[in-house]
Amino acid sequence: MNPSEARIVLTGANGGIGRETAAAFIGAGASVLLVGRSAAQLSALSRSIQTTAREHAGRIAWQVADLGKAAQVGELGGIATEWRCNVLVHAAGVPCFGALETVDAETMRRVLDINLLAPMGLTQALLPHLRAQARAQVIFVGSALGRIGLPGFSIYSASKFGLRGFAESLRRELSGTGIRVQYVGPRSTRTTFNDAAVQAYNAATGTAMDSPGRVAQTLLRSLQDGAAERFIGFPERLAVRINGAVPTLLDGSFDKHRRSVPSPSADGALPAQRSDRPVASPIESSGVPR
Ligand SMILES: NC(=O)c1ccc[n+]([C@@H]2O[C@H](COP(=O)([O-])OP(=O)(O)OC[C@H]3O[C@@H](n4cnc5c(N)ncnc54)[C@H](OP(=O)(O)O)[C@@H]3O)[C@@H](O)[C@H]2O)c1
Repeated sequence: MNPSEARIVLTGANGGIGRETAAAFIGAGASVLLVGRSAAQLSALSRSIQTTAREHAGRIAWQVADLGKAAQVGELGGIATEWRCNVLVHAAGVPCFGALETVDAETMRRVLDINLLAPMGLTQALLPHLRAQARAQVIFVGSALGRIGLPGFSIYSASKFGLRGFAESLRRELSGTGIRVQYVGPRSTRTTFNDAAVQAYNAATGTAMDSPGRVAQTLLRSLQDGAAERFIGFPERLAVRINGAVPTLLDGSFDKHRRSVPSPSADGALPAQRSDRPVASPIESSGVPR
């Protein structure tokens, strides 16, 4: 779509990739509804983009929403409909790095909530409105790790693989309508998303990191050409293809990555496993002799 015709709802707008993407979209002539959790940051971002060029004023709006709360996802759908959006860019996300034993149940749920359930719910809420548009686009910011499972990223990969599956299925479901469904998979990118442990892992494994500006330009390109899927950087793009065709072929290629994941027993203690459900006594829950 030509950016000047686009009215884009952008989640994760206050993030490292989100800020650059907002500026790129607006600079190309689009109107953008910035979505984030901090009113102060959204308002500051909106002001800073407007001060770069006065003609941008009037094409920027912002809305606070916590995408971890289903009610707020639904409300955002209503606000985006009233604002007459025709493009939805899901860039909000949370990281998760570490050996599986070190991730507690609450973190697992939050990663799936923000990275997978929120974009699914927001897309569903906006679908009737998007179907009524002559042309519309839904762009999911996934990850190279939504195509390649790496040691240390099992939970994060599960969320981004899920998102890619959702996007692929929905793209086919909506084929023949005016709605394009797209998935953009950045590789590691220099934002605060990656803490010191991930940066050490990247350094140890020779993993390249892109600037958020490169991701923003890729998202702008995807808005313009409607490409169904796009991954960023070499060798990640090649690995995505190989892994897609013959996943087990690469199984032996990640020894260095495995060794670079902090050991779960490094500090001698694992986090307690949490569960919402009360644990039943062995007599009630099992017939296995002990
Ligand atoms: N950086 C990378 O290496 C990398 C690589 C591949 C893919 N990605 C993906 O790119 C996207 C953006 O990442 P980034 O690097 O820009 O990360 P970031 O700087 O940490 O930004 C993440 C954004 O997600 C928003 N968010 C988190 N939880 C939220 C919630 N409960 N409700 C609403 N918004 C929430 C944050 O909003 P607040 O400002 O309110 O906190 C923040 O703006 C993510 O989907 C990430 O998975 C990143």
